[in-house]
Amino acid sequence: MTLLVIDTDPGVDDALALLLAWGSPGVRVEAVTTVAGNVPLGQCTLNLFRLLALRRPEPWPVVAAGADAPLARPLRTAEGYHGADGLGALGDWPEVEAEPALPNAIDLIVDMGRRHGERLTLVALGPLTNLALACEADLAAMRRIGRVVAMGGAVDVPGNVTPTAEFNFHVDPEAAARVLDAGLRLDLVPLDATGQATVTRAELERALGARPGPRAARVLAFTQHAFAREGGRLTLHDPLAVGAAFDETLLSWEPARLRIGGDGETRRAGGHPNCRIAVGVETERFVSVLLQRL
Ligand code: RIB
Ligand code: CA
Repeated sequence: MTLLVIDTDPGVDDALALLLAWGSPGVRVEAVTTVAGNVPLGQCTLNLFRLLALRRPEPWPVVAAGADAPLARPLRTAEGYHGADGLGALGDWPEVEAEPALPNAIDLIVDMGRRHGERLTLVALGPLTNLALACEADLAAMRRIGRVVAMGGAVDVPGNVTPTAEFNFHVDPEAAARVLDAGLRLDLVPLDATGQATVTRAELERALGARPGPRAARVLAFTQHAFAREGGRLTLHDPLAVGAAFDETLLSWEPARLRIGGDGETRRAGGHPNCRIAVGVETERFVSVLLQRL
């Protein structure tokens, strides 16, 4: 059993990542926390409840909302790619009550670390603001966590929001730096890996067409906005991080020491490694697993 806590800023690829986790046998999503990133925090949290209502996962995860802004700079969002509401700007989502449980995301993440320790994998799919605040609150609890898998960074490839920086780390470089220096068992899934994991609109339509229904129709609908921005292809950033969490053999890894630049750049540095970075992907096997489980 892979026990997950997922920190997320839904977002279209976050949504696919959550559906992958909830559709994976042997994976239990204990809690989901939201963080401002692709869209403002309130919208992230509303989107999470929309996805919960769509998927109705068993067990229903504990939900808490986290940071509404980066540690030390104004929030930069990504509605241009994800749509004005972060989920494809459909306008016809059923009404949901976005009622995060108490305590807040930082307390929940720390509590999960204290309670589950080595057995837990914490998956970060957005800016690392919540994780940095959790390290500040109880570093010992965070260091007990078995694996921290974070989608973020661009090590030997160009960035996707500036020529040198990836979005999650660009939004909150201070948080990324603190998490990298926190002594966690950190597995980074950067653009170097996620750029190898893409799906075409035709592949998604074919896979979902094999099992038609409301969920398939909704997934096809909320991905259209992002497909249009990427010319009919979708880069599976966050789903790959979830794949790495439940089956690390889907990727190849190397130890690295990284430092964070002022723009959120991830640059190699000398000295003892502070993370593993994913460098290779078994793309065909990963995409096949994803398409079966959405
Ligand atoms: O750079 C890709 C990352 O930024 C993904 O997590 C995507 O959802 C956005 O948050
Ligand atoms: Ca994300």
